[in-house]
Order: sequence, then structure tokens, then C-alpha cells
Amino acid sequence: MSEILINGAKKLFGEIDIQGAKNSVLPVLAATILCPGECVVHNCPHLSDVETSLKILTQLGLRCERQDNTVTVNGVHISGYKIPENLMREMRSSVVFLGAIIGRTGKAVISSPGGCELGPRPIDLHLSSLRRMGVTISEEHGFLYCEAPEGLKGAEIHLSFPSVGATENIILAAATAKGLTVIHNAAKEPEISDLADFLNSAGARIYGCGSDTVYIHGAERLSGTEHTIIPDRIVAATYMACAAVTGGKIKINSVMPSHMVSVLSVFRESGCSIEISGKSLIITAPKRLQRVPTVRSMVHPGFPTDAGPLIIAMLCVADGTSVFVENIFENRFRYADELIRLGAKIKTEGKIAVIEGVSSLSGAGCKATDLRGGAALVCAGLAAGGTTTIGEIHHIERGYDDIVGTLKKLGADIEYTNT
Ligand code: UD1
Repeated sequence: MSEILINGAKKLFGEIDIQGAKNSVLPVLAATILCPGECVVHNCPHLSDVETSLKILTQLGLRCERQDNTVTVNGVHISGYKIPENLMREMRSSVVFLGAIIGRTGKAVISSPGGCELGPRPIDLHLSSLRRMGVTISEEHGFLYCEAPEGLKGAEIHLSFPSVGATENIILAAATAKGLTVIHNAAKEPEISDLADFLNSAGARIYGCGSDTVYIHGAERLSGTEHTIIPDRIVAATYMACAAVTGGKIKINSVMPSHMVSVLSVFRESGCSIEISGKSLIITAPKRLQRVPTVRSMVHPGFPTDAGPLIIAMLCVADGTSVFVENIFENRFRYADELIRLGAKIKTEGKIAVIEGVSSLSGAGCKATDLRGGAALVCAGLAAGGTTTIGEIHHIERGYDDIVGTLKKLGADIEYTNT
């Protein structure tokens, strides 16, 4: 099994490009199911979650090919409507395939996704919305059997919480449903607009993404298309945190600063200087990072929950005590115990983490508990004196395309080791 080994306390310098967004590419690949033609998707990062998505598409009978960062999906023929349990287990977000499979075939079978490393991940909003669109759903022996006997029909849907996945699933189901679907209290994350841009380029008629209300006029048929995935704002925040925590200065290209406003303001509050020029930015760390006023995770455009672990890793070495309030997921601080192994002073209770900055961290053995928590350990390991080893890195590989190679390019002493 592979681990990541870091000899830390080296400042990062240099320039990198940011990969395509994991949270865009997954729903976009699901959307190719609705397109009975050839879809060419550029800027697809090499991630285990993307590989799982391609396995799901192949299982459904679509033909997938990858050349470098471009994935081509030929969806002329589809022969299946079930997602096998092992693939569902590999990637909980495969629930986003549900709306697309029903949209194309009129039915779908998936295993119940259950909980995940961030706590319970219910899909009640996905299911109640699909029911409103004419889907009957029954649960037997851990499987969900979904069927739209009279086809999907447009509906007026009020989400009690602006769930990202539920908004995507509704958009996917509604894209080729009969009539108009309106989503009230829709999620506004940039990845949802990216999904809509993909679908609209294939002939869908989706309006209002990025606002609270999304309108989807069902199209009779979609076609093949070509699309480039937007940059990953959480990966950008990760490398920024790595630069900040080591006292370095890096330039990152292929970013969308407008997607990162709330994150950039926390970096600035910590004393980092950020110069933006179009789709590039330069982050320069201060001599010593400063504590920041309370950060609360919120739905977009608020501070993203996924960037929380990275900011917390950075605040571990800031001057003073900071507070982070996690408002989206119930059980997101498991990685804090691993940061403590490196000498961090963090206390968590419920949704609150109190981070007392220390002057330095020291290398230790630790394990990734989840994707972004794992990235936070990499970040802390880069700041720590001595050697840090990180196990369970399959969590990290779900969302980072060659994190070791990228950090090496910035001067980090980091490598994979086999245990
Ligand atoms: C997506 C992102 C994930 C990010 C999250 C919040 C993908 C693949 N993943 O996850 O990286 O952290 O948005 O920005 O895009 N909820 C319910 N019932 C539902 C659905 C959600 O109660 O039917 C709750 C969840 O338990 C959670 C909250 O709503 O507490 C947010 O979930 P949601 O926005 O749906 O996140 P995901 O789409 O799962």
C-alpha cells in the first residue's frame, strides 16, 4: 500500500496549473447518458472518482475512451440501467447518475448509498424530487428500484436545503422531461452552472443556474457535444494553503478567482497577499500567518465546507486562536486528531473547531480519514519539521490529480513510498 512521505519545513515556490473540477466532471459524465451521440469532455482530471464514473458508464453500455485529459463518451447505445453495488460503494456521489439514467431509460436501480466518512449522507431530497417528477421508488434489500412508467414530467420543486447533488439530479432528470421544471432554493455552486452549460450545449434549455431559482424546459432530445470542465476551486485552495503554510510564494494558473471570493478573503485575513490577473493568481505568505475571525462554512457563495480542512491546517501555525464552524456536514473533523499528531492544538465540539496556532509542527505518522482531511494532512506535513508519513491515501486520490508531482514541482520534498 502506498503512503505519502514528506520532509517538511521547505518553502514552496513556482507555478502550477489547476486541474478540472472533480465536482463538475462527475455530474457532466453522468449527463453524457442523456446524449445519444458523442460527447467530448476536456480537462478531465485523473482521479479515482472519474475512473469509477467511467466504469459506471461502461457498465451501462456507453463507450468511453480517455486520451490524456480528454474523455470521449459515445452514448448512441445504452443497454443497462443498474449501478452495481461495488461501484456505488466506491463513490457515494454516484447517486448523481440516478436522474440521468431514468431520463434516458425510464428506470434505474442503485444500491442505497448509506453513510460516508463525513457522517450520514441522506438522499431524501433527491428521491422526493424525483417522485414529484413521476418516478415511483421502492427500497428492497438495500436497493432502490426507480421507475417512471409514464416518463418524467416537469414539476415545481422547493428544496428545503439547497443540496448540490439534489439540484444536479433534478436538472439531469428534467433536461429531457416533459414540460417545465422549476427548482426553488436551488444550490448555486459554480459546478452546477458548469453542468448546465454542458447540457445546454447538447440542446437542453436550462436557465437561472447560479441563482436561487432554476428553470428547465424539457427538451425532446439532446445530442453529442464538446465541453471543457471548469477549474477546481478546492484544489486551488489546497495549493494556496500549502504555499501559505510553508511561507512560500506561488503562482497558480487556470483558476476562476470569481468562484473563490469567500476563500480568498480568508487567505487575505490570515496575512497572505493575493494578486489576481485574469485566470491566474499569485499568493505570497506573510512572515507569520495571523489568526482569522470566525470562519463559517455555508452554501455558495459562502465559505465552502470542502475548503475547511485546508484553512484549518493553515491556521494550525497562525499567530493566535481561530474558530471554524462547520455548518454543512455533521462529522467533518475526524482529521483533526491526525493534525494533533503533528503537534497542532485543535479542540472540536460538535460543529465547532477551535484552533490555537502553534509556532511549528513536527513530522509524524498519520492517516487520511477523508479526501479533504487527507489534503489537510499533506498541507500540515509540508509545514512540519522532520518527516511525515500519510497513510490511507486512496482518499486523497479521489480528488487530486498527482498531488505529489504537483507539490514536487513547487519544490516540496515529497514522494510516494510503498509499505
Ligand atoms: C457536494 C460535493 C461535496 C461538497 C458538498 C457541499 C460533489 C460530488 N460533492 O456533495 O464535495 O462538500 O456538495 O458543498 O459535488 N442533504 C440531505 N438530504 C439530501 C441531500 C443532502 O439532508 O437529499 C444534506 C447533506 O447530508 C449535507 C447537506 O445536505 O448535510 C449538503 O449536502 P449536498 O449539498 O447534497 O452535498 P453533496 O451533493 O452530497
